[in-house]
Amino acid sequence: MEVLPQKYELKIYPDAKSKKFRGNVSIYTKIIGSANKIVLNAKELEIKSAEVISNGSSQIPKVKLDKEKQELILELDKPVKKNAVIKIEYVGIHNEELYGFYLSKYKMNGKEETLLTTQFESSDARAAFPCFDNPSMKAVFELTLVIDKELEAISNMPVKSVKVIGDKKEVLFYPTPKMSTYLLYMGVGKFEYLQSSLGKLKIRVATTPGKLKYAKIPLLYAKQFVSFYEKYFGIKYPLPKLDLIAIPDFSAGAMENWGAITFREIDLLIDPDNTSASSRINAATTIAHELAHQWFGDLVTMKWWDDLWLNESFATYMSSKCVNAVYPEWKLNLNFLIDEVSTGMSADQLESTHPINVRVKSPEEIESIFDRISYEKGGSILMMLEDYAGPETFRKGLHRYLKEHAYGNATKFDLWNAIQKEANIEGKRLKVGEVAKAWIEKAGYPIVKLSRAEKGYSIAQERFTLLGKTKKGLWPIPITYLAYTKGKKDVAKILFETKNKLINTKAEWLKLNFGQKGFYRVKYYDEMLTLLGEAYKSKIIDDVEGIGIESDLYNLLIARYIKLDIYLGFIRNYMLDTEYPLNMQIANHLTALNTFTYGMGVNQKVRDVALAYFRNAIKKIGINPNENEDEPTKIFRAKVITSLGFLEDDEIKDFAKRNFENALNDKVDPNIRNPIFFVSAWNGDNEVFEKIKEAYLKETLPEKKIYLLVSLGLFRDKQICQNALAFTLSKDVKLQDSFYIPNELSSNPSGKDLLLPWLKENWLLLKEKFSAGTHMLPRYVDALSTQRGYDKLKEIKEFFTSKKNYTPAIKKELRETLERIEINTLFAEWLGNNS
Ligand code: BES
Ligand code: ZN
Repeated sequence: MEVLPQKYELKIYPDAKSKKFRGNVSIYTKIIGSANKIVLNAKELEIKSAEVISNGSSQIPKVKLDKEKQELILELDKPVKKNAVIKIEYVGIHNEELYGFYLSKYKMNGKEETLLTTQFESSDARAAFPCFDNPSMKAVFELTLVIDKELEAISNMPVKSVKVIGDKKEVLFYPTPKMSTYLLYMGVGKFEYLQSSLGKLKIRVATTPGKLKYAKIPLLYAKQFVSFYEKYFGIKYPLPKLDLIAIPDFSAGAMENWGAITFREIDLLIDPDNTSASSRINAATTIAHELAHQWFGDLVTMKWWDDLWLNESFATYMSSKCVNAVYPEWKLNLNFLIDEVSTGMSADQLESTHPINVRVKSPEEIESIFDRISYEKGGSILMMLEDYAGPETFRKGLHRYLKEHAYGNATKFDLWNAIQKEANIEGKRLKVGEVAKAWIEKAGYPIVKLSRAEKGYSIAQERFTLLGKTKKGLWPIPITYLAYTKGKKDVAKILFETKNKLINTKAEWLKLNFGQKGFYRVKYYDEMLTLLGEAYKSKIIDDVEGIGIESDLYNLLIARYIKLDIYLGFIRNYMLDTEYPLNMQIANHLTALNTFTYGMGVNQKVRDVALAYFRNAIKKIGINPNENEDEPTKIFRAKVITSLGFLEDDEIKDFAKRNFENALNDKVDPNIRNPIFFVSAWNGDNEVFEKIKEAYLKETLPEKKIYLLVSLGLFRDKQICQNALAFTLSKDVKLQDSFYIPNELSSNPSGKDLLLPWLKENWLLLKEKFSAGTHMLPRYVDALSTQRGYDKLKEIKEFFTSKKNYTPAIKKELRETLERIEINTLFAEWLGNNS
């Protein structure tokens, strides 16, 4: 027996004042077999009445609510067959916790205003209306919102009619195409719009009043990116309109509701004259990510959350492809390696990692897989698959997949079958399914070790983890390598499916993972590493290879495979002068190592190389922005200033001091504003703290406001760190932003020790504040990943696993955090003994 929803007629009476809404829903269902019970989902809803109509007769079911399972059970006296209409009247809550149909607050001219908005993914449509809250149960939605006359309503489809009744109006929207519940959207408030069109498609950016001046650039991006995807997928944007809506309180960064995408303000809005290059690029990639979902996720949806990666990996990979096509000068193709691939690898080199494809059931389990494996590893594996199949074959496969499953659901098998089919048509002999399956169903990834052999070289694979306990594992690795012989370069491709393999060649040296499309690391022997360093320095291999070599070396160091001197020596000898974004990667690594070794004997060695690196950089690009430079230079300068400031470079300290007031008053280029705040905080006292706090409270520009807040976590005085922690839980910091300060303190040598006691003291409060649905609680556990010592490990484990403190939402994060602490402990001990 199965009850399948076909159409929802939904009428809701939102009301921000009483924080409660009334709703009526009629669900038209098809019934396979016969049903004496109908099970829907409902969460925090009060059911007023229920009726089931079938075959011309109506009955009143017995209503049961299972709070634990979030189910609404209708028990029927007379079984129903074929078709039934379920009618329910209910009351729901506009909570302020960022899920369901929630209330968001903002200030306008000093006055508090409210708006109502929804966040349903993954399992909270059920908090707005009783429904079959399963992504595979697609249906048509016909929505009416009854609202105050002076307000505006937004949903997935355009408004069909407005009927004014007294001081209210009934806004009826056009019926949606068949879609999943988690993608439905409702927004009610005082919105302002900036509109444009792309052919027949109407695109708008919606903001709360007064922020429209920040909408022009995102609107342009949206147009450019929709048109990219239409061409790339070979499928028109499926709906008649598209809205991009900036929401003042928002738990994630952005959400792909079909035709009504919601964003945190900082991830969408751009002041054309006062936004840094990195914030612009961040907004562009966020917009491109959610737009990719309009096809991947919204038009074709995963059958169940086990295949969440089908949504998120694609959006991650596609957004980089899309933005790179429109703005190649931002170098996002290379940035993908340092942001996404390395983040994916960093998550996947834990022994507690999980396969991309996982079984999940409960809402908490579903939420826990919106993680670096589904996003960054998944995205990286797609890049590898694209490289393996060939870009055109891959694209045609995606087109086939989207066409065949439009308005429906699909699984991973559907995806690789589609790509395999295209490969077959083109006569390519590939094992798309086999390769994809292994990488998607196996946890972790391999390291390939190169050694000399009699007739050339030999390679061997084993699993790579930072702890190094688990080494078993065999992957079908598509390997591309460059063989260099007497000035001649040859590129070859093999599928490496065994433990060991001989590469028969007379080449003087080999660069494995040529092009860096593969999700694996390489360990070279010392002499080979020197040859590669020389080849990089003399530009025989380029920055793509440099990114791979440096990233592998850094992680091999953390895993205790190579000595600190080898890593630092490589940077000093070959990589002091590098281009974007390899320079960002090296900067991140040197900064992280410097922070990690703070107070240890080896710190001096790290500092020396870091100072040499950053001073060389600043000499080259200058402290002050220059009008004609590209975005990468602006972004790198911000990094260099911040890093030198943290290293207490006198010139930079002085520069920050001189410009602090100017930065507060918008009298510096926005690209160096954040670094000036950061350095001022790092070298600042209570007076600076109070000034930054005051500026934060007044600020309305999203980017500036957030980075002022971040700066509050960067002071080195312990008392100031305590004050920052107290401030983060005050009413002056929005719930959505309360994580920034603890996050900064986690890598602040002065604040690090305060974090655990503070978390323990406030844990029950945090646990209550961040109910499931906000996805925020695990981040506080993650902030403990920088701790070290077996005593800390034990303390953290005992505290969070105790009955009173435990919650399923942190289960996975806790396991990973404990492993990271063990890794830190081992690495610190080892550094002490080996340097
Ligand atoms: N579908 C997600 C939003 C989401 C995340 C819903 C977690 C429920 C739980 C959205 O497409 C997304 O991935 N947003 C990202 C931004 C993106 C640019 C990586 C986010 O919110 O971080
Ligand atoms: Zn996404």
